[in-house]
Amino acid sequence: MADFHNKVVYQIYPKSFKDANGDGLGDLAGVIEKLDYLAELGVDYLWLTPFFLSPQNDNGYDVADYRRIDPDFGTMAEVEKLIDEAGKRGMGLMFDMVFNHTSTEHEWFQRALAGEEKYQDYYIFREGEPDQPPTNWVSKFGGPAWAYVPQLGKWYLHLFDKTQADLNWENPQVRRELQEVLKFWKEKGIKGFRFDVVNLISKPAEFADDVEGDGRRFYTDGRHVHEFLQEMVRESGIEGMVTVGEMSSTTLENCIRYSCPQDKELSMVFNFHHLKVDYKDGDKWQLMPPDIKSLKELFAKWQEGMQAGQGWNATFWCNHDQPRAVSRFGEDGAWREKSAKMLGACIHLMRGTPYIYQGEEIGMTNAGYASIDQYRDVESLNYYEILCREGKSSAEALAILAARSRDNGRTPMQWSAEAYAGFSSHEPWLLPPDNYKKINVAAARQDQDSIFAFYQQLIRLRHEREIVAEGKISFLDRENEDVIAYERTLGADRLVVLCNFCGREVSLREKSLQDYQAEGLHRVLGNYEDVGQALRPYEVVVLANS
Ligand code: GLC
Repeated sequence: MADFHNKVVYQIYPKSFKDANGDGLGDLAGVIEKLDYLAELGVDYLWLTPFFLSPQNDNGYDVADYRRIDPDFGTMAEVEKLIDEAGKRGMGLMFDMVFNHTSTEHEWFQRALAGEEKYQDYYIFREGEPDQPPTNWVSKFGGPAWAYVPQLGKWYLHLFDKTQADLNWENPQVRRELQEVLKFWKEKGIKGFRFDVVNLISKPAEFADDVEGDGRRFYTDGRHVHEFLQEMVRESGIEGMVTVGEMSSTTLENCIRYSCPQDKELSMVFNFHHLKVDYKDGDKWQLMPPDIKSLKELFAKWQEGMQAGQGWNATFWCNHDQPRAVSRFGEDGAWREKSAKMLGACIHLMRGTPYIYQGEEIGMTNAGYASIDQYRDVESLNYYEILCREGKSSAEALAILAARSRDNGRTPMQWSAEAYAGFSSHEPWLLPPDNYKKINVAAARQDQDSIFAFYQQLIRLRHEREIVAEGKISFLDRENEDVIAYERTLGADRLVVLCNFCGREVSLREKSLQDYQAEGLHRVLGNYEDVGQALRPYEVVVLANS
């Protein structure tokens, strides 16, 4: 058994986790302060999003030096203390490696701009006329994916912001540089890595216009990506550490290859298909209620497909790029507690390693901002402009951001009912939603029936029951449009998870709850006190025969 199968990862967005020095920005000292809380929750690994030196145009995903700590976050001594203190509490750290691109403030890019050819070959530069980008590709943050440098007479590729220049992985020297970065952090004693958009690293041999789309089909899961990952793992000596790759617009076939043990690439992968079931026509900026039937079909496809191919999923609803799950797939008013628990159980008991994003364990909601001045995220600000330019009124554009902005997931962690949610003594860089007086860690800890207590139970189930970590999965009640249900089996052991995604009572179609009980299954966990006749609003019930 791979040792990450029965583990749970907690994602920390340091800028919004806890501000220890009172400047309104979260920091590493704040993370250290809250380690006891994380140990009490019971998680095994802490993934920290980037805190490396950065101009912060994309909140640290624009790295200017992979080995230095951004002074906004703290010092190397604090990183070392964090690794040490987390280790004492049985938790390992995973750092976030942004290897598809660097900040344009990185020394390599600066030397490229100064005319050093060696460093120009670290990036993807193409000769061209100032009004004619090499291709029509579109940046993931809106606008063209190329920027022109007049003094060089060249364009460079940036799949994200123009201050995030894509690295040229075809250059072996670039690959060696990045391997050295991994060795550096491994030696500091961390236990794993998360690799940012790592399936975009291998670009095509020829750059051509995309007549069908935004260019992604030319570089997603690109021609050398598997080779590059295998080499990176082998040469940097990180085999055996826990690794997760963020895979943008990927395929099941590729994800099997990224994560099956025999190929020696990564431990597991994030894919995002299930987080597009509320995108109208596949467009994030067009609102639609989530389609639970396709959500279920996607889970079934990825869960059963990865199992068949011996791949391993990272299971998750939330991260720093996503709106809050309870506001999106649950109900953040009267049914907030029930639906947050149901959502948690739904992914924690699947086959894969679950990730909890800070605040999810207390049912934090979307931000509820009503004015563009409250937003900070570069993607949200760009799209606000784009939507208005396309003819939407400001109110319409704001309604879209309220549902879709990445800032929804980035509001400060709600620690208490005190000012600024107990996150900071100073006005924070991004405001918490008004509901922090009710929804906060201090309140959750006083309630034995809290979402927090439920997450503790989910983590414990994974640690204690081998079936949760290793059982086979198959989906149940597939035709039911309101319910996601599956069964795990290991030898004679059975575990059945039944989740109602709607605010009405719903009957199961294949077998009733009473049929399952008649087969010898009994309730081991749920968000109602007993097993009813049918599934009540947002109910989850977990049944087992042992
Ligand atoms: C990933 C990160 C996101 C970042 C992007 C570019 O999607 O999660 O926050 O903006 O990569 O690095």
